[in-house]
Amino acid sequence: MVETDPIEEKPSPGRIPDLNSNWCTDTPVRKLNVNDAAKARELSAVSFPIYYPMDYFIDSFANQDRCFSAGIFDPYPDGILLGFVIALPDYVADEDRAQFYSDAERDLIEKNDRKVAYIASLAVHPQAMRRRIGTRLINSLLFYLQQSKPETSCVFLHVKTDNDRAMQFYERNQFIRHSFIKDYYNENVHAYIYARQIRLR
Ligand SMILES: CC(C)(COP(=O)(O)OP(=O)(O)OC[C@H]1O[C@@H](n2cnc3c(N)ncnc32)[C@H](O)[C@@H]1OP(=O)(O)O)[C@@H](O)C(=O)NCCC(=O)NCCS
Repeated sequence: MVETDPIEEKPSPGRIPDLNSNWCTDTPVRKLNVNDAAKARELSAVSFPIYYPMDYFIDSFANQDRCFSAGIFDPYPDGILLGFVIALPDYVADEDRAQFYSDAERDLIEKNDRKVAYIASLAVHPQAMRRRIGTRLINSLLFYLQQSKPETSCVFLHVKTDNDRAMQFYERNQFIRHSFIKDYYNENVHAYIYARQIRLR
């Protein structure tokens, strides 16, 4: 029998636990830590077409100085992760990434004096969608960015051009479609950039 590493085994869609009838969404938003990585990876596996390895979550949650993360959990029966967001408050800090910027991205960055944040992942449990969890997570990020130093001028993200649900969600949360990026995800799999200006306090 071939043994597989349980950590690196790719979770199949539907593996995240079902919510029971007592689940609730009004638990507070909290920071995520490395102990939450497995739950985040399971939710991401049913939410995104791209596979994110365990290291992505561990790395994101362990490096809180360069990475913002927040989640909402259902307290019953064992703290099911209802939604999470991962963002980079200082997107240009990683200079290696600059070689991969699209023209539109570079333009957005320069027009905002390089004070840009980036939403890397946002997902809500399929059975908990449309209950403001995504909105609460985005609001927690916006609140953080409004307080943060150095100041952030704009937050942006990429969304697949056929992801109507996400586009409606971002538009409802005052993001504006900025540009179209051909073949962003793969050949013939395109993206839009959505962006929102940050109102500084
Ligand atoms: C996009 C996503 C994060 C939204 O999270 P959510 O918690 O369901 O969203 P909210 O309940 O906060 O919705 C706020 C508003 O967004 C819009 N919206 C959200 N889901 C929608 C849908 N299925 N259809 C139309 N509009 C939708 C609505 O205007 C909604 O307000 P309303 O319910 O008062 O009409 C969630 O659908 C998701 O995880 N999708 C899969 C992963 C994904 O696509 N992530 C984004 C990648 S860029």
